[in-house]
Amino acid sequence: MDLRAIAGLGLVPLEYLRDSMRMFKWSKASPSCPKYQQLHYDIMLLAHTVEKGLSVSSPRPGFGKEKIDRLLFLLENYNDGWSDFCVKKSFGCLSEYVNWHDSIGFDLGARRAPIEMFFQVCEKKGIEKNGGTKIISSRSECYGFEEALLTRHSTRQYTQDVVSSEVLYKVGSIATHTPSQCNRQSGRLHYYSDYNVIQTLLKLQGGAEGFRENVYNLFVVSSELSAWSGFKARSQSYVDASLLAMQTMNALQSQGLAYCPLNLAVSNSREMDICRVGGISTGERLIMMISFGYPVVGEFKVAKSARLSPEELIVVHK
Ligand SMILES: Cc1cc2nc3c(=O)[nH]c(=O)nc-3n(C[C@H](O)[C@H](O)[C@H](O)COP(=O)(O)O)c2cc1C
Repeated sequence: MDLRAIAGLGLVPLEYLRDSMRMFKWSKASPSCPKYQQLHYDIMLLAHTVEKGLSVSSPRPGFGKEKIDRLLFLLENYNDGWSDFCVKKSFGCLSEYVNWHDSIGFDLGARRAPIEMFFQVCEKKGIEKNGGTKIISSRSECYGFEEALLTRHSTRQYTQDVVSSEVLYKVGSIATHTPSQCNRQSGRLHYYSDYNVIQTLLKLQGGAEGFRENVYNLFVVSSELSAWSGFKARSQSYVDASLLAMQTMNALQSQGLAYCPLNLAVSNSREMDICRVGGISTGERLIMMISFGYPVVGEFKVAKSARLSPEELIVVHK
């Protein structure tokens, strides 16, 4: 019997208590959540309901009245000096909303004027549109994708090169295509290339011993707690940011980079230490780290990591 493990069970409620305290402080519903983050995510969610409504096969003419009223109200209170991302998104979504209604000859009546007032403000400020829908075509094949998925590995050997900012942002641009709940995009990739900072972060992480010294590029993947509110969403930060992590790893592979995901199964106090060293707000939940870099030249070893069979993986319910 592992007495230390049993004693550790006693700490579980304490850790949940600390999780709750962070939610009380940082989540979107909290009065102490930074105002701009509350507004940013509320606007993002409402604008998304507009583009989602337009993307269905038969949108309902006039849909979304209450949500659009609320969206306009929040936009009035939003200072786009914080970040104009959600404003651009709203501008794009509402423009398409108006255009679509025009195209079907539906009169938006008194609702049109406040929307157009918002457009005028955006135009005056030179804000671009960045939201709505786009047309894609269905493709029956996706050459190379299966092979890429089947040949991925966690790799723990890298060259000493720090990736260029061009490559970094290429990876970032692929990672932005990660699906997220209501397109919240709460996930963040904190990037480190300072060797000493990486070593301190990895010592706090604890799972990279044996290859820690070979790491010259590191992501810490997080999710902003302010994107989430309510007890039902208590674990969603992990879901969204884990998907971001997977897409990021695929993006790294697509650029010829090697990577290894690194767990952040740590206590709240360890998480705070990582936030402090990494310069990350404690309003972000840390999900995992990803060490990465260029693979060493020639042949090298990776762990085999044997897999379940598909029959073991898929539980068929009749
Ligand atoms: C969330 C998560 C945390 C992980 N943490 C570590 C870690 O701390 N150290 C490590 O060497 N590998 C870590 N790994 C890598 C796994 O060992 C690896 O993904 C698994 O063995 C499957 O092998 P593959 O990724 O090569 O397919 C982690 C993987 C995941 C998904």
